[in-house]
Amino acid sequence: MRREPPYADGAIEVVPADGPLGAEVRGIDLTADIDDATLAAIERAWARHLVLEWHDQPLTVAQHVAFGRRLGRLEDMSHVDQPATGLPPEVLVIVNDPELNEAPKPPASYLKGFQNKHVQWHSDNSYRDVPPKGSLFAVKESPPEGGVTIFCNMYAAYETLTVELKERVTGRVLIHDPSLNSANVLRAGVTPPTDVSKGNGPRHPLVRVHPVTGKRALYLGRRPYAYVCGYPVAESEELLDALWAHATDERCIWRRTVNRPGDLLLWDNRCTMHARTAFASSAPRLAHRVQIAGESVIGA
Ligand SMILES: [Fe+2]
Repeated sequence: MRREPPYADGAIEVVPADGPLGAEVRGIDLTADIDDATLAAIERAWARHLVLEWHDQPLTVAQHVAFGRRLGRLEDMSHVDQPATGLPPEVLVIVNDPELNEAPKPPASYLKGFQNKHVQWHSDNSYRDVPPKGSLFAVKESPPEGGVTIFCNMYAAYETLTVELKERVTGRVLIHDPSLNSANVLRAGVTPPTDVSKGNGPRHPLVRVHPVTGKRALYLGRRPYAYVCGYPVAESEELLDALWAHATDERCIWRRTVNRPGDLLLWDNRCTMHARTAFASSAPRLAHRVQIAGESVIGA
């Protein structure tokens, strides 16, 4: 059952998803310039639905970058280990590589690449001091089945915590360890911590306040080597397991079922997490992603 009926806001039509977050935006051609009023309507829809998707938007690289820049400063992605693309440094290329999928261990040059198996729940780059606020993901080629990005609502995750869990997370700080990528692969040259309480990575508030909506969201980042400061390690582990199970429960998830070429996704890393479903090793999959720079994480 759809949560909210479709509605118009200026030039756009917003069709909320059948889930606890997400909406499709219609009535706009993103290959053309968009005016400020329409941009404001898109930003309102983004704040309300957390993840937006468009269909049939075959953007060129320049159009993708130009739209991303309307939403904020784009980050330089050239630090990511990927083959030379000849594309602007803001564009991260995500491509399926059957050779990588079949490798018993990811080759060194692909240590930051993802295989075709399920990608773990995470929010992008939470292991940085200033994580990106959003990601704008353009689907170029898609497997016939799987390889779909799915989302969970971290406002809902916070709001539906038990009183006891809310008390245990309030005012707490989480270490966001950078050792593993989202495919649970150790990054090149990294030694993970043997004691997570002394781990690397920034310390972000476990409950963050969204700078646009003012709402509180659980901010988990990624699970491996995470640690809630101030608790014995065993208690931190037990608490994190409970929080992760709660946040990724079906009632918090928008389980999209397909990506199509021409789909464009805009997600908010401050109040959502995402995962990616597995797909066939030989299937085509190609996407371009840009990241919109964020702000320091504000705690509740
Ligand atoms: Fe991601």
